[in-house]
Amino acid sequence: MSEKSWYFALKDSDLKEGGIGFARVKGKPVLLVRKNGEIYTLFGKCKHMGCRLSKGTFSGEFILKCPCHGWEYDIRSGEYQGDEDEVLDMYDNKVEDGDILVLL
Ligand code: FES
Repeated sequence: MSEKSWYFALKDSDLKEGGIGFARVKGKPVLLVRKNGEIYTLFGKCKHMGCRLSKGTFSGEFILKCPCHGWEYDIRSGEYQGDEDEVLDMYDNKVEDGDILVLL
């Protein structure tokens, strides 16, 4: 297994409270969400048919709904609400010098 490293995803100032962002990091689609001051970073494509989750909408405080067919995910755990075995990968993140970095 290869070593993980921190990679730039977005400028911290480009992710507002309640905002949803998208970045391609090391070729991987990454969804970024800021809620209640916390930043959540998850795999950015839906487990159903791969729609981009950053185009989704919130159907609950932490529940993001896919724009294509409505699958709902808890952004705190990555869990699809219809089947707990369908889970989006979550990535660690940190803010450094105004940049949001993710560990991949
Ligand atoms: S692609 Fe997300 S619900 Fe179908």
